[in-house]
Amino acid sequence: MLYCYNGNHTPPGREEEDTMKTNLTATQIAPHIYAVGAVDWNVRNFHGYLTGRGSTYNAFLVMDEKITLIDTVKAPFADDLLARIASVVDPGKIDYVISNHSEPDHSGALPRIIDAVKPEKLFASVAGAKTLKAYYDIDATVVKTGDTLPLGAGKLAFVDTKMLHWPDSMVSYYDLDKALFSQDAFGMHLAGSRLWADEYDGSVLEQEARKYFANILNVQAPKVVQLIDSLPGLNLDIELVLPDHGPLWRGDWRWIVDLYRECAVQKPRKRALVAYSTMWNSTRILADALADGIRSRGVEVVVTDLNVSDRSAVMTEVANSGIIAFGAPTMNNQMYPAMADVLNYVKGLRPKNKIGFAFGSFGWSGEGAKQIAAELEAMGAEQPVAPIQAKYMPAAAELDAIRAAGVTLADALLAKLAAE
Ligand code: FEO
Repeated sequence: MLYCYNGNHTPPGREEEDTMKTNLTATQIAPHIYAVGAVDWNVRNFHGYLTGRGSTYNAFLVMDEKITLIDTVKAPFADDLLARIASVVDPGKIDYVISNHSEPDHSGALPRIIDAVKPEKLFASVAGAKTLKAYYDIDATVVKTGDTLPLGAGKLAFVDTKMLHWPDSMVSYYDLDKALFSQDAFGMHLAGSRLWADEYDGSVLEQEARKYFANILNVQAPKVVQLIDSLPGLNLDIELVLPDHGPLWRGDWRWIVDLYRECAVQKPRKRALVAYSTMWNSTRILADALADGIRSRGVEVVVTDLNVSDRSAVMTEVANSGIIAFGAPTMNNQMYPAMADVLNYVKGLRPKNKIGFAFGSFGWSGEGAKQIAAELEAMGAEQPVAPIQAKYMPAAAELDAIRAAGVTLADALLAKLAAE
């Protein structure tokens, strides 16, 4: 194929590569476990979630008497996976394949792997078997919570984690190396040549884990709390937590579990988000005055223009903030389209325990801020201050009012935090 760089064709990317030979190798991460997944250095848009640091599709080879592959990778990385497996063992010797999660970033390579490996059995949850059948017309043997699969010296145990975050999601535990294969859970989008979380800067891990949680798991936050709280009852002696994205966890695995739990309970934090879109700067001027009022009470504020901030970055800040303020102009009797897009996305991820505020500007009809307030209402956000809108350009009185609104919002948050 001839690729042109004049905007008419996409330059060659990983998605379009033909089958290629590689000499990639696996890394042994435990006495019986090898990391055989792929690093996607260049992914920047993961179904709308902007992945500024790339991602990984982790997969694991368990070298017991029954050689077992845990999860696969995104389709274009099938060769990487096969090469890494081949550096340990002939792929044809794999006996079992486990599909902990059938979203295509982990199952896209499955048809090629099944073809190359011809495993004795493929295992998945009830919903996983249905999904794999629908996607690839592949049959899987169903496993449920409490089921175990002897591999020889050790065995795998399965725990159904339905809706974390798809109906098919499950986790597997290998007793011999005390490893929990947690699929998307406890992961993050972060590409790197290092495998273990303790080899990364902690602030990068926290930033990416919070972003990942906000955009992937926040919608099911109560189930995350349930799962984490049920872990002790499962009596799994865990030493390794091996997610399907980002770094792997060894001695410090409780750090990521605790951070996930903190994100999931959605306790308010002493931070505020002021997100706005603007046509002729009126809403921006209001946003700055609002932020000034909030900051004057010692609450940290992030101000972001939706022209330069994508929805996944906004959702990350929503999750990080006790106050969420959204401002937009009215256009064609509607809130400005960029704001409608972001609010639709944020509402779907079900943020809780927020203090909300709507503001904006208008020329003649002024529906924008009211529509934003309705969206905040639908999210269950408290709104201690009624929406404020400026006609054409904010006057001094409106700037004073919105600055005062910032003070009121900050005081409401401080009171809420003090009451906890
Ligand atoms: Fe990483 Fe839900 O797939």
